[in-house]
Amino acid sequence: MLFRLARPALFAFDPETAHRTTIAALGFAPRKAPPAPGPLASEVAGLRFPNPLGMAAGFDKDGEVPDAVLGLGFGFVEIGSITPLPQAGNPRPRLFRLAQDRAVINRMGFNNGGGDAAEARLRKRASRPGIVGVNIGANKDSADRVADYALLTRRFAPLASYLTVNISSPNTPGLRALQDEAALVALLDAVLDARPAVGPPVFLKVAPDLESADIDAIARIALNRGLGALIVSNTTISRPPLASRDAGETGGLSGAPLRDLAQRRLRDFRKATGGGIPLIGVGGIGSAEDAWARIRAGASLVQLYSAMVYDGPGLARRIVRDLEKLMRRDGFTTLAEAVGSE
Ligand code: FNR
Repeated sequence: MLFRLARPALFAFDPETAHRTTIAALGFAPRKAPPAPGPLASEVAGLRFPNPLGMAAGFDKDGEVPDAVLGLGFGFVEIGSITPLPQAGNPRPRLFRLAQDRAVINRMGFNNGGGDAAEARLRKRASRPGIVGVNIGANKDSADRVADYALLTRRFAPLASYLTVNISSPNTPGLRALQDEAALVALLDAVLDARPAVGPPVFLKVAPDLESADIDAIARIALNRGLGALIVSNTTISRPPLASRDAGETGGLSGAPLRDLAQRRLRDFRKATGGGIPLIGVGGIGSAEDAWARIRAGASLVQLYSAMVYDGPGLARRIVRDLEKLMRRDGFTTLAEAVGSE
């Protein structure tokens, strides 16, 4: 209700200012506990998720408000992407609302306050409950990108519920080349070596813009390295037909127009992994029906970001509530039974 009143004002700001305002408001919001385990609770990668809906990376890049995000009803939150050194990102404007398409284009370029600042914030909240994943990336100017990921793995392993290796942002030149087979093996081995013996599960986040040979290779590597999950997917550099003025902007497209592509990729990864590794479905999810379709296609968990720009902070609770109804409607008693059941 409050969001509906505030939305025109928020949308009068440029998108990045509106986002900063939202983060600041969440920082002041009265503290609410993370959701309690409900009918949709499940265990994935050794973690107990109270519900399967997470906030995707990029919303709380610097880990300023993870507890407030959990307080909105999300079952987990992924902060980042964080790079070792602070980074300004690309020049503005670099974030575009495509309202007619319920989409977003961003070319932020890993703007973030760096590992030190995020680590200090996570230390302060370390005793609080809730699943907080840390999504890590490499600095644009880094001479050794693999070393960046290894360093962040060492630093955040004690503080993160899980770590996400992000090699799929389209806005750091050359980053997505780390998805190539030889590069990916070297990167993951460095990350897994850097992780302490008792460390959090490692997830890998992939782009939707992959050929089937890439998908097979990534699935094989993820399986034999024992990754905790694959996150499918990041934003797309492709451009399905769009109606909005800013449709031609460079960057990664997210929101409703990404939904079908992300759903197809999820199915591709389900097929390629044979259900041998949990999948996290993300891209264009804006309703319980969207989330349910992703789960039926093989996602153990789902995430969203762009839909919240349009529907506001009440969205997580609505989706979780309606998902419970869909599960009952289709005759499942646990979420795990429904995963991949289409
Ligand atoms: C993102 N996303 C993202 N992903 C990531 O791994 N690291 C990041 O830093 C960011 N940053 C980021 C910024 C902005 C403004 C957006 C819109 C998105 C991608 C995000 O986590 C997600 O994968 C996609 O946005 C697709 O989901 P939605 O938005 O369609 O639900």
